[in-house]
Amino acid sequence: MTTTAVTPRIFSGIQPSGAPHLGNDLGAIRNYVRLQAEYEAIYCIVDYHALTSTHDAATLRTRTREMAATLLSLGLDPERCTLFVQSHRPECTELAWLLTTVTPVSWLERTPTYKEKKQNQPDDINHGLLTYPVLQAADIILYKATMVPVGRDQAAHLELSREIVRAFNNRYGDTFPEPQAVYTEAPVVLGTDGVRKMSKSLGNAIEVLADPETVRKQVMGMVTDTTRALRKDPGHPDTCNVCQLQRFFGDDHEGLWEGERTAQTGCVDMKKLLAARITDHYAAARERYLELMATPDRVDEILAAGAERLKPLATATMAEVRERMGLR
Ligand code: AMP
Ligand code: TRP
Repeated sequence: MTTTAVTPRIFSGIQPSGAPHLGNDLGAIRNYVRLQAEYEAIYCIVDYHALTSTHDAATLRTRTREMAATLLSLGLDPERCTLFVQSHRPECTELAWLLTTVTPVSWLERTPTYKEKKQNQPDDINHGLLTYPVLQAADIILYKATMVPVGRDQAAHLELSREIVRAFNNRYGDTFPEPQAVYTEAPVVLGTDGVRKMSKSLGNAIEVLADPETVRKQVMGMVTDTTRALRKDPGHPDTCNVCQLQRFFGDDHEGLWEGERTAQTGCVDMKKLLAARITDHYAAARERYLELMATPDRVDEILAAGAERLKPLATATMAEVRERMGLR
């Protein structure tokens, strides 16, 4: 008997919540690009999720298209992966509702990102923030994806997705595979403040597709090695955020770090170099991005085709789920 190898399906989602930053690319998007060559890959711009923080319709519409153009310019190839907008395939919302009935509220209340949101947007603790991870689980399992490329800040969400799958399978029989997170080698990327994770909403981001002057300003504003008072003091590259980021732009970071340790170079030198390297690295993507934004119909066509392609899969899963749950 022969067994047919089935290509694992991967899925990831990204919020259309503003300009993409280094954390997004180093933590996740690089893996999206790499994995599309090897697997059946589905990438989703999660506009429903974004509604938990973005409440202006025109802004959300614009950002959704911008995120699509961003992902395409950074290397997603519509011939090799499926790129779509979450709300264009709304079956996930029905599945999310059904999954809430197997998800204890306590699991959601203890989610770290929910606790963070309570601090970061205290005047807007909407119910969507609490159920956010349930919708995320629905996104993934609607397509029965098994691998999920995300940044390390998403570890708790992915664990919750797995728990929700187990809870569903326990109650209704084996229906969904447990999804696994796939990480890049980057840690959670810290923001320009050097303390909190880089995030669009915290104002500590380095925007990868911004014009060179903006990137330069963002990098030059970074907090460096706070223990280094004077230029002649030795630097500590292991704990300096600028030095850490150098690992991802060039293969000479060991030499650069030695220069820091021996105080041959200073923080300003390192920041100038990093800004130049980031700008160089993303120059071609930035050009592609501007071209795509000048042809928005092309972007919209790619997104529409993506959602259409997924329809049979989504329909099949929902039929199976409704049957298992007694909804007929
Ligand atoms: P978001 O913009 O929150 O939708 O994030 C999109 C992707 O980027 C997710 O896979 C995140 O895990 C990843 N990501 C966002 N911020 C960071 C960060 N500071 N470090 C590493 N990965 C990140
Ligand atoms: N929660 C993710 C983030 O904030 C975005 C997301 C939504 C996602 N649905 C997903 C990621 C499904 C992976 C799989 O970055």
